[in-house]
Amino acid sequence: MEKKNLDWANLGFGYVTADYRYVSNYKDGKWDDGEITTDANITLNECAGVFQYAQTCFEGLKAYTTEDGHIVCFRPDLNAQRMVDSCERLKMPAFPVERFIDAVEKTVKANEAWVPPYGSGATLYIRPYMIATNPVIGVKPATEYQFRIFVTPVGPYFKGGAKPLTIRTCDFDRAAPHGTGHIKAGLNYAMSLYAIVDAHEQGFDENMYLDPATRTKVEETGGANFIFITKDGKFVTPKSDSILPSITRRSLMVVAEKYLGMTVENREVLFEEVKDFAECGLCGTAAVISPVGKINDHGKEICFPSGMDEMGPMTKKLYETLTGIQMGTVEAPEGWVHTIV
Ligand code: PLP
Ligand code: COI
Repeated sequence: MEKKNLDWANLGFGYVTADYRYVSNYKDGKWDDGEITTDANITLNECAGVFQYAQTCFEGLKAYTTEDGHIVCFRPDLNAQRMVDSCERLKMPAFPVERFIDAVEKTVKANEAWVPPYGSGATLYIRPYMIATNPVIGVKPATEYQFRIFVTPVGPYFKGGAKPLTIRTCDFDRAAPHGTGHIKAGLNYAMSLYAIVDAHEQGFDENMYLDPATRTKVEETGGANFIFITKDGKFVTPKSDSILPSITRRSLMVVAEKYLGMTVENREVLFEEVKDFAECGLCGTAAVISPVGKINDHGKEICFPSGMDEMGPMTKKLYETLTGIQMGTVEAPEGWVHTIV
């Protein structure tokens, strides 16, 4: 199989139209068999539920080429389950976990030529999503849905790759208490667009959202969870009902404890204590681990001792172990690496 002729090492995080995608439709209370198709476009009624009341959710995972030439993905069962949870909250029909994994496999296999080679620095981003497709004008759930998966080869989410980011505390909220912050609903991301454009205009890479009720606790960014390293080498990561349960963060908690022997604390993190941490990072499928060098809180700066030139030493160890597991150079815990080819 011949790979596409792309400049893999210089890809950004963008959409490239690959050859194949997966589509399954839900009607009369059941999902059809699903198929791989070549048509990247969707034609829908003007009143489809997705257009009117934003009934849509999505997932994000990646396929990696390992050192020994296999194509694998990372814990797809957790993405499948999280999508089931998102669907439940949005009154959408669950796409079964086993079928989700099978659909990911089929889509990646069909697009093998688009999977970046080992060592290129790029990966294949996989985007499963679901939309409400039939007309709804009264505010109620639709009765017909489409589940799709497309893939796109990607490089680093943040320009500059592993260079430490400058972020700011944000005066807007992305999620409400008892709202939808804990699921991957498209509406959460719509909520974050004003804030991210504003952050970029002000010269910041990302927003640090605080808890909407008290604005004293760290939540997450628009697309990643936070990790912190204390001065005595503990791994601390915020716990909140209104943040997305990041698969990367849950995996890093295991990596920190079992591979690096660190004490792990998953707890409420007061913004007040952030200035005392030694290292800070963002973690997620797209972000991988992106170091944060500086946080601007309404003009007051928190500068982490790890500086603005490179990742802090513990962040680096976490990054190397996690990506080693994903690319097959570090032995993975049972069930984490799912071989596709
Ligand atoms: N938080 C938000 C809001 C996200 O969009 C993402 C990305 O999926 C994450 C956290 C990280 O989650 P994961 O590690 O499962 O990709
Ligand atoms: C992911 O990491 O998969 C996400 O969905 C985050 C998004 C900001 C690209």
